[in-house]
Amino acid sequence: MMYAQEDYQAKKMTAAQAAALVENGWLLGMDSSAAQTPALMQAIADRAYAGQLEGVKVQALLDAYPFAYYMDPALLGKMTGFSWFSSGAARQAVNGGYADLLPSYYRDIPSHIRREYSYDAFCISVSPMDKHGYFSFATAGSYSQAMLDKAQRVFVEVNKYQPRAIRGGQIHVSQVTAIVENDSPLPVLPPVKIDRDSETIGGLIAEQIPDGACVQLGIGAIPDATGLALRSKHDLGIHTEMFTDSMVELIACGAVNNSKKQIHRGRSVTTFAYGSQRIYDYIDDNPAIEILPVEYVNDPAVICRNDNMISINAALEVDLFGQVCAESVGTRHMSGTGGQVDFVRGACQSKGGKSFIAFTSTAKGGTISKIRSTLAPGAVVTTSKNDVDYIVTEYGVAHLRGRSLAERARQLIAIAHPDFREELAFEAKKRGIML
Ligand code: COA
Repeated sequence: MMYAQEDYQAKKMTAAQAAALVENGWLLGMDSSAAQTPALMQAIADRAYAGQLEGVKVQALLDAYPFAYYMDPALLGKMTGFSWFSSGAARQAVNGGYADLLPSYYRDIPSHIRREYSYDAFCISVSPMDKHGYFSFATAGSYSQAMLDKAQRVFVEVNKYQPRAIRGGQIHVSQVTAIVENDSPLPVLPPVKIDRDSETIGGLIAEQIPDGACVQLGIGAIPDATGLALRSKHDLGIHTEMFTDSMVELIACGAVNNSKKQIHRGRSVTTFAYGSQRIYDYIDDNPAIEILPVEYVNDPAVICRNDNMISINAALEVDLFGQVCAESVGTRHMSGTGGQVDFVRGACQSKGGKSFIAFTSTAKGGTISKIRSTLAPGAVVTTSKNDVDYIVTEYGVAHLRGRSLAERARQLIAIAHPDFREELAFEAKKRGIML
């Protein structure tokens, strides 16, 4: 076997040289956000634009870069995006009919990858090689190992800004086909603006969370506001899907120490990280965080092993039965399912656990109620009426799990915006829901 450094030098090439290895019809795989490979994707897109490639497909999740195949409809058929969780640029491309969505619970993606696909190349951004020849998967647990296992080739972008996750995935230089060095700062999420309603909702949820609980926070202003409202708590733990800024803050201020967890005691567990540079700095060489594959982290049977598991996620609308839509506005696609259902189920199975779906009561300047008699035509049900637990708006908390239709409608109407309560009650009665 070659020495690691010699192997590294032999495989080092430019992004254009790596892109030149790609052939018509190849299926490429990438993971999410900061693990993605912008230089490689641009070089491959350049070849597609030059008429040198067609039929290339790229699978990825939660895209952090404005990839050409999402930004430019002209690439359809030459280089086409398939998203396991589309938002941002992918959202626009899916709605525009020039990219496609792969519906799935996040926890099941590795199983779909292993059963249904094989990749001509898996592309991942990694930290610089260590003295033993290993690159760290950095911010990605997720499905990277599954894609790696099903890939004929591995293209890595080595980036000095990538943190080294010492309790996360690793790949050895001997497994790699092409090495492209690309030292560019990692993508960061703009800081979320937390308005007064989000703060109120965060406070209402924080009241329901005991010291010693284990938390998952989803994406957006309300999960972030809840995170900040938890700063006065003690002995919290983290078992989450996405590791966020508010979690680093909770660790820094001492509210999180993971001391009461039943599994992975003393460590935070996540499947990927995305946010500010502060997160990436926290991960680097830190034994207190484990970045593990999603089929494990998001498995409800694993999530529920921590007592007092609390999950907090957002939504776009909910009907009077408690059916939650977090993926579309009517037929307009907004995002994938992600891990919402995984964590709703895991939290509800945990001893003392609770799951919160939270949103402000209205959209579009107060003109649309997010609590509706029925979901908008075409709306996607993310969390079913049988799984839903707590719903929270700035007007209060509704506890739906195990409750009758009438009780659900009563509680939901009580936390709807006052301007819409009468209309909702009228609709409920018209539908024969006992009020
Ligand atoms: N009717 C019409 N428009 C609505 C609406 C409704 N009921 N609810 C929200 N909107 C609009 C908002 O006004 C906003 O419009 P704008 O972009 O023009 O400002 C847009 O839809 C997004 O709404 P917002 O409340 O800002 O949602 P968000 O961007 O914070 O995302 C989810 C919310 C639900 C899409 C997000 O949480 C998500 O990705 N969920 C996936 C499932 C999940 O929870 N997974 C777990 C974490 S991965």
